[in-house]
Amino acid sequence: PQARPLAGIKLMLTAGPTREALDPVRFISNHSSGKMGFALAAAAQELGAEVLLVSGPVGLPTPAGVTRIEVESARQMHQAVMAHIADQQIFIACAAVADYAPKTVAEQKIKKTASDTLVIELTKNPDIVAEVAALPDKPFTVGFAAETRDVEKYARDKLSRKGLDMIAANDVAKAGQGFNSDDNALTVFWPQGRADLPLAGKTQLARHLLILIADRYHERH
Ligand code: C5P
Repeated sequence: PQARPLAGIKLMLTAGPTREALDPVRFISNHSSGKMGFALAAAAQELGAEVLLVSGPVGLPTPAGVTRIEVESARQMHQAVMAHIADQQIFIACAAVADYAPKTVAEQKIKKTASDTLVIELTKNPDIVAEVAALPDKPFTVGFAAETRDVEKYARDKLSRKGLDMIAANDVAKAGQGFNSDDNALTVFWPQGRADLPLAGKTQLARHLLILIADRYHERH
């Protein structure tokens, strides 16, 4: 096996959460730490790839040799990805993108009223990875699936519905892995196969996943 199986390959990743503004001081977001995406960016760079990391707001340093674009909302992430996708051979969607955003962003801070309820209308965000996978000249496209049950069923469904080349699923119901943890375990599915990557530090796991991706990518090219 080569030491640098991704040499000469341009690889883009999304990582972290997105923030969907409600007003100038509030947003809707999630607990994604960005750790898995940043570990993948670092490992891809070490395996020889030219890495472009599109990241939501996280408190992590940019891995050495990686180019980083910072975004806040899903719409900004979508724009940044689409602006650079034509150059990429591999795209890995690791970000926990908000599925919905507030339909309108209030210009001023939303004030508390006498009412005990407040209704916020949400509108669907673009599905970035599905849009990339639908491009006529699409890169090798990898998605993630965080599931709490029936992991294989939901992951395979996502793989085919979004038109992905590979999906990495984690069971977020299991303690000590996934969101915010330093460790993770993944089950990886592609149309003709699967692989189990057992619980490990995110650095080691990232290396394993990228080697799988490189194998499948080179099999095709
Ligand atoms: O459908 P679900 O959100 O579970 O799919 C997760 C996968 O889709 C992840 O790879 C995530 O980065 C990607 N995704 C995306 N854009 C969205 C929602 C999810 O790229 N708006």
